[in-house]
This record gives sequence, structure tokens and C-alpha cells, in this order.
Amino acid sequence: MARSSKTIVLLPGDGIGPEVTSAAVAVLSDCAAEFGHRWEFVELPFGGIAIDRCGSPLPAETLAACQCADAILLGAVGGPRWDSLPLDRRPEAGLLAIRRKLGLWANLRPVVLREPLRDVSPLRPDRAPRINFEIVRELAGGIYFGEHSLERTSGFEVARDVESYSTPEIERIARFAFDRAARRSGRLVSVDKANILASSALWRQTVSRLASDYPSVSLAHLYVDNAAMQLILDPAQFDVLLTTNMFGDILSDEAAALLGSIGLMPSMSCGEGTPLFEPIHGSAPSLAGRDLANPIGAILCATLLLREAFALPEEAAWIEAALDAVLDAGYRTPDLTASGALTFGAASAVGPSFSAASTSSRGRGVSCSGTFRVSDSFTVGCSGFVAQLRTRLREPLPQLERYGWGV
Ligand code: IPM
Ligand code: MG
Repeated sequence: MARSSKTIVLLPGDGIGPEVTSAAVAVLSDCAAEFGHRWEFVELPFGGIAIDRCGSPLPAETLAACQCADAILLGAVGGPRWDSLPLDRRPEAGLLAIRRKLGLWANLRPVVLREPLRDVSPLRPDRAPRINFEIVRELAGGIYFGEHSLERTSGFEVARDVESYSTPEIERIARFAFDRAARRSGRLVSVDKANILASSALWRQTVSRLASDYPSVSLAHLYVDNAAMQLILDPAQFDVLLTTNMFGDILSDEAAALLGSIGLMPSMSCGEGTPLFEPIHGSAPSLAGRDLANPIGAILCATLLLREAFALPEEAAWIEAALDAVLDAGYRTPDLTASGALTFGAASAVGPSFSAASTSSRGRGVSCSGTFRVSDSFTVGCSGFVAQLRTRLREPLPQLERYGWGV
């Protein structure tokens, strides 16, 4: 009998969204087969493609399916094709609408430098001994959802976007962040601009007031300009970083840069309705359809989904172990290699089998069925990377040591 039976709505969206979403689905399907789960995938239009097909970035049918599902996997939205539309009719408006309509007020962005990708970080190794923290971004308020206006007065135009936060909005996201910190190493840093903005002054005061409810958590505050600098100077000081919608958007791209590529970071949006998982990279129109996308952000969305939405940490760890093994063997999508973009070969590159790759000679630029080895790494496309991962996932689970340690 299936151990877990769930419905996952897929919103692949635009650009590289469909490629990376199918990578996550492939891995989740392998996981279901291995562990005896039954997951039904329901794919629906969302974003630019939904504007073209249904006239709206979030069609009613898509929203209804999302409301009934157990989890949502989203690819990416937007592209030049829709850039000239008014702000409230663009693909991005669909993203804000789904967040608001599902009551997704918390956004979690884990920033983890995986051991095999240490050399991909732009930081010197002595500056990045350990990068493993979470950004908690408020997602349903602030300037994104304040009043937006454009007026024409005395011959010129004035545009206005209102940043506003209420104490209940701040309290719910702050409690979420305190809880995350309490389950980790207990260090919470709240980021604001309380020396200038009234909304930030209320933010700081409210977060401080809640601190006494969480005696195991130590709370510190940083102004956002200082936080941006500290992220580069000493990312290891962070454990959980709590911030507003706008500051969270900006700081999470900066945090992704610490890892070496925005293609590596997943996110979870949650609150009242169905949780939604989405890599933080955009739709990358210039990479779309060329098999150049990095599927790791989407694959880590799958593992975040397993841990946070389905409470299946063992399954998530199984996938992440295979992912690290593939990275350890040297497989890299072009965004992770300095020279990869130049040496990348066939669009549908599928590399040698996992074990063959790990025994072939290093550093000679060997070409094997569409995969090119450059110094210590193979540059592969999205599909080639996923093929390697699936080969690894199909290897038998390590057997228990039959005679005990050391015999
Ligand atoms: C993100 C994105 C979105 C945001 C855009 C596409 C609306 O940048 O999720 O980080 O700003 O929230
Ligand atoms: Mg962003």
C-alpha cells in the first residue's frame, strides 16, 4: 500500500520553467517508486503562457486546482513577450495574485553552500568556511501590496508605491522566523531600515517585543545596508535572517550569488493555503529551450517539499545524497563552470554513466557522447545533469555492514 498519496500541482510557467520543473518531477517520480509513495501530478497554465492561452496569468481553473492540492511546484514566469503589458496584467502579477489568494505570507529561502560546489562560490574559502542559513521573507505585505499610483500634475508625472506593515502582519512572520531559529542554532537577525522608515521602526519594535516568548533564541537587528555588506564579509554569522518583502527579494539574490549561481536556490511559500515551491531564479529567456538551465534549484524545491510539506526527511536526504554524489563526480551545468559556456556541446547532452564518469581520466577535455570534461568537471546540459542524477538514484541503497564495524 502506498505510504503517501498526494496531489502536486505543477505550474511550469515560462522560459526555463518547464525544463527545470520536469527535472523536479523526474526526481520525485523516482523517489515515489523507491519508497512506495503515490503522487499525482496535475499540470496547469500559469504566467505568460496562461495569458496567451486563457487571457489571464492566473486562470480560475489553475487557482481552484492549487487550492485543493497538497503542494504546488512552480517553475518561473515572465519574458520579453509580455514586458510591454501594464504591470497589473503581466505574468508577475499572477505570482503576486497566487501568493495573496492562497494566503502565502511566509517565504523561506535556504542558502546552503554544498560541499562539492565550494569552488563555485566567488568568496575565498577562508571567507566562506560555512554558508548555511535561511532567509525568512515576508511575502504578503509591504511595498509589493501597498497602493501603487501614477499621477500627472502640472506637466510632469509622479509615481508612488506605499510600504506599509501592521503589527499582526509583522507578528505572524516574526513568530515563523523565531520558530525556525529555535529549531536551528537559535540565532535570529532581523533586517530593516528603522533609522529612516516608519514601517521599519514598527517592524523592529514588534520583533523585539516577541523575543521574550523565545528564550532559546538570541535576537539581533541590522539595517539593510549593513546586512547586505555583512552577507559578503561574513556569511557564516547568519543562521536565520528575517526581513520584509522587498528587502527579502533583494537580499536573497545576493545570497544566491554567494553560492555562485542563482540556479542553486529553492524557496517555499507558505501560510494559510497550499504551500508553493519555486526556485528563486527567473525564467531566463536567453537560456530557454537550449538545455542550458541549471535544474538544481528546482530539484532542491522537490527536497524542500518532501521535508516541509510531506514530512519525509529520509526521502529528501536520499535525493540530496545522490545530488552531492553527481556534483562530486564533477558534473556541472554551464552556469557553474567558468569555461562551460564555451565548451558545452550537444543540446540534449547525456553524459557517460555515473560510474564510468568517475573512473575516466581527469583534466584532458575528453568528449564522451555530448558531455565535455574540462579540467576536473564535465559540463552537461539540464537533461544531462538529470540523467546523471537518475542513474545515481537507481543504484541500490548502501547495504548495512553485515559483520559490524572494522571486521
Ligand atoms: C522572487 C521574484 C518575484 C518577486 C518577481 C518575479 C515578482 O523576484 O520571487 O524573488 O519579486 O517576489
Ligand atoms: Mg526575486
